[in-house]
Amino acid sequence: MSGNKKILVLPGDGIGKEVMQEVLNIIDWMAKNKSIEFDISERLVGGAAYDQEGDSISDKTMEEAIKSDAVLFGAVGGSKWDNVERSKRPEAALLRLRKELDLFANLRPAVVFEALINSSSLKKDLVTDLDILILRELTSGVYFGKPRGIEKINAVEERAVDTQSYSTSEIHRIGKVAFDLAKLRSNKVTSVEKSNVMETGVLWRKVISDLHKKEYNKIKLDHMLADNCAMQLVRQPKQFDVILTDNLFGDLLSDIAAMLTGSLGMLPSASLGALDSNGKRSAMYEPVHGSAPDIAGQGKANPLAMIMSFAMMLKYSFGMNEDSKLIEQSVHNVLSKGLRTPDIKQSHEKAISTKEMGMAIIEELNILSGK
Ligand code: IPM
Ligand code: MG
Repeated sequence: MSGNKKILVLPGDGIGKEVMQEVLNIIDWMAKNKSIEFDISERLVGGAAYDQEGDSISDKTMEEAIKSDAVLFGAVGGSKWDNVERSKRPEAALLRLRKELDLFANLRPAVVFEALINSSSLKKDLVTDLDILILRELTSGVYFGKPRGIEKINAVEERAVDTQSYSTSEIHRIGKVAFDLAKLRSNKVTSVEKSNVMETGVLWRKVISDLHKKEYNKIKLDHMLADNCAMQLVRQPKQFDVILTDNLFGDLLSDIAAMLTGSLGMLPSASLGALDSNGKRSAMYEPVHGSAPDIAGQGKANPLAMIMSFAMMLKYSFGMNEDSKLIEQSVHNVLSKGLRTPDIKQSHEKAISTKEMGMAIIEELNILSGK
């Protein structure tokens, strides 16, 4: 057995496969040029796994995920599987990975690249140098609360129930991650809930305030209602540093934040578990965008979110900060040179393909490392 880090690669469906290929090319480049070797295993997930293995994630794949040091995830889903029962649908694989690896902390940075400032839907001065981090709780709340289901009441009526639930310890552990991350950034946390109408919001606000008072009183803490936060994100996004929020609000707010940056195709994410007694934590890295069936197979996908998710893996799972920065720098440089996939190009600009963007990154890696 080699001592190499084990990465499980799950490309998934649609453009997931295309963007993952560009990361695999970077992994090859690192092996050849920097003698950095990973043990890579690749398996099916999502609709692809359902078609071949009868479930969107098999037990064998889950086992591999648990054994790996990090999981790289592409994207899942597509209308082909719309009528598959919920527990076997492509999205169920994602939820099972999150839950069984206990990936409670989802980091979704929204950073505006200078070169893409004109792709943002907001005016330039509102988003120049924008750098915010949405920290979304990922393993509880309404996504997992019980009871849930649809019951028949009578011949014409049915009743659907989802349960929003949070415990003190679940709020406490995500709160600690938020404050710790804020320390590495601009020392500001905005905690977001709906304590004006929801009990979970009341408990959330209390637990975060107590934690702040006891352990993090040097960090600036604001509380904000979720609807107001949605509005503030498009009104004055630079007021935020770390936005701490629950599973459902985090899902919504991170899509809004994504659009401020110009393209969903640019946003990476990391989902992290707790440190175990061996100092190891489970982790999964995936682009915020989905499988985009409408453009799949056409070479139109932007691989940069996937590539930057890989860079996040190097940083958060393996402490390889220099290599992580090298990849981020390549992305900056390639964009500054005007290279654009269709999702980030202005009408007068020429678009390049997924492959060409991947090759441009490799070329830039060569330049930056003097090859
Ligand atoms: C996300 C996605 C998922 C979610 C879906 C695909 C289950 O929207 O990661 O933001 O709702 O969490
Ligand atoms: Mg979402």
